[in-house]
Amino acid sequence: MKPFISVAIDGPAGAGKSTIARRVAAELGYLYVDTGAIYRTVGYHMSLMGVGPKDSDGIRRCIDDVNIEIRYGDDGLQHMILNGADVTDKIRTPEMSIMASGVATQSCVRDYLLEMQRSLAETHNVVMDGRDIGTVVLPNARVKIYLTASAGVRAERRCRELLQRGETVEYADVYTDIVKRDEQDMNRAIAPLRCADDAEVVDSSAMSIDQVVAEIKAIIRKKAEA
Ligand code: DC
Repeated sequence: MKPFISVAIDGPAGAGKSTIARRVAAELGYLYVDTGAIYRTVGYHMSLMGVGPKDSDGIRRCIDDVNIEIRYGDDGLQHMILNGADVTDKIRTPEMSIMASGVATQSCVRDYLLEMQRSLAETHNVVMDGRDIGTVVLPNARVKIYLTASAGVRAERRCRELLQRGETVEYADVYTDIVKRDEQDMNRAIAPLRCADDAEVVDSSAMSIDQVVAEIKAIIRKKAEA
């Protein structure tokens, strides 16, 4: 049997990873795995338990009560199931972005989620996006992409996305959150966001979604044929 192919897409918040990864996966017939959604689901559980993003003891105490399943709907969307309940609609708020980035600094959370992510890649062709996919989760991924964009462009995109969802947001707040998350995701002790040595860097600041999808598919084709 041919081994499964993994495409790892890492990069900072708002670089367009999920939009791009979802489209690339759909066009190639691969499974799309949004690992940020898994960290968000853990963050959501902690907030339900009244545990803050920096409360290491509380997070360690509560992590064993977290049972996460990923289900794929007929719509092809990744649904997050937390202890039996679909929480997909609850995890996309700015508060859950901060919670996810906070819980993601904790080793007990990262260890817990590592196996889940690896076992998906062992049983499917995947396009997996996150922060540490090419460096830690799937260091042997066939294709590694580091997708980035300037902080200003990323904040603009995130603002548009939140406004479309009917949320009231200010650009300055979104920009501050993005910079704060970059700082936390890149400087944490365990599995910080960084570009893998063998990743191809794609800067999407001045590119359309179609252009980024085309460029990433070209990289995948090149690597798959190599
Ligand atoms: O991609 P996202 O914005 O949904 O991710 C939310 C947070 O989860 C992000 O700020 C850091 C964390 N995360 C991580 O540490 N490792 C991953 N592979 C994915 C996300």
